[in-house]
Amino acid sequence: MSEMIIQTKGLTKTYRGRMAVDHLDLEIAKGDIYGFLGPNGAGKTTTIRMLLGLIQPTSGSIRIFNRDMPKDKLEILRHVGSLVESPSYYGHLSAIDNLEAIRRILQVPKSRIHEVLEIVSLTSEARRPVKGFSLGMKQRLGIAAALLGSPDLLILDEPTNGLDPSGIHEIRELIKHMPEQYGITVLVSSHLLGEMELMASKVGIIREGQLVFQDTIDNLRLRSTHNMELVVSEPDSAMWIARDLGASGTAENGILSFPGMVDAQVAHLVKRLVENGHDIYRVEQKKKSLEDIFMQVIGERGQV
Ligand SMILES: Nc1ncnc2c1ncn2[C@@H]1O[C@H](COP(=O)(O)OP(=O)(O)O)[C@@H](O)[C@H]1O
Ligand SMILES: [Mg+2]
Repeated sequence: MSEMIIQTKGLTKTYRGRMAVDHLDLEIAKGDIYGFLGPNGAGKTTTIRMLLGLIQPTSGSIRIFNRDMPKDKLEILRHVGSLVESPSYYGHLSAIDNLEAIRRILQVPKSRIHEVLEIVSLTSEARRPVKGFSLGMKQRLGIAAALLGSPDLLILDEPTNGLDPSGIHEIRELIKHMPEQYGITVLVSSHLLGEMELMASKVGIIREGQLVFQDTIDNLRLRSTHNMELVVSEPDSAMWIARDLGASGTAENGILSFPGMVDAQVAHLVKRLVENGHDIYRVEQKKKSLEDIFMQVIGERGQV
């Protein structure tokens, strides 16, 4: 089994008796880009704030780098970079000067400023006052700041929130290279699955404080049911034959649709239809889009 970077057990936070985070068992392995997904209000930020020791859990445990949070908080945070909510800057100062202020606190070499500016592709803008930066540039500067201390773990809370498609693309490209180029494990939250699809190696989906899915995106896809669609010459009587064989489905606009129908059932149905003089024009397996699956997971209680 690969080395765990973050592991929580029964992590819970209640506010005035209301569960904001409800018994989370998170598992984030070394080298993962872990997409922490859920609609607004699901408990992502609350979870992240607990991981960073900014708020105390009501119950449950957190281990990061195999150390206990909050007991070993300072030792853990020395190796964690984070971006939670919009970072605040000195607007009249340049990117370099803003980073310099943080660098002094962290006591890392001056050369690190240029390295992190290079990583987030802000080198050519580094001397401009930050107040003229776009939101996307500000977010990248926030990531640069998070990288200053050469962390092993990067925790980003909705870094693409409010960005336009090109800004989202830039952040995604940046995050994608963190594990293999810099050996950094990433936890990144979002309320949009589409943003995660192209970069996350693993996703955790949280809904009303509960983790309803935690695995690879490929396995999320596999768990969904498909639809088998048949286009035939006489849909209504074909549907009778299908029902007679025990298949349940619907006929709409001349297309017969059977959720979750497996190959053996398809073969059986097609054979029977042909025997009864039906023409079969098309047999198609319709996969649900990942977005459909996500909506299904967060829209319903329980598993996919
Ligand atoms: N400080 C707080 N006091 C009371 N309720 C809170 C507080 N912070 C968050 N909550 C509630 O906890 C739930 C989860 O919020 P949050 O973690 O911010 O969700 P997300 O980041 O997924 O949008 C929400 O219902 C929110 O209203
Ligand atoms: Mg949030």
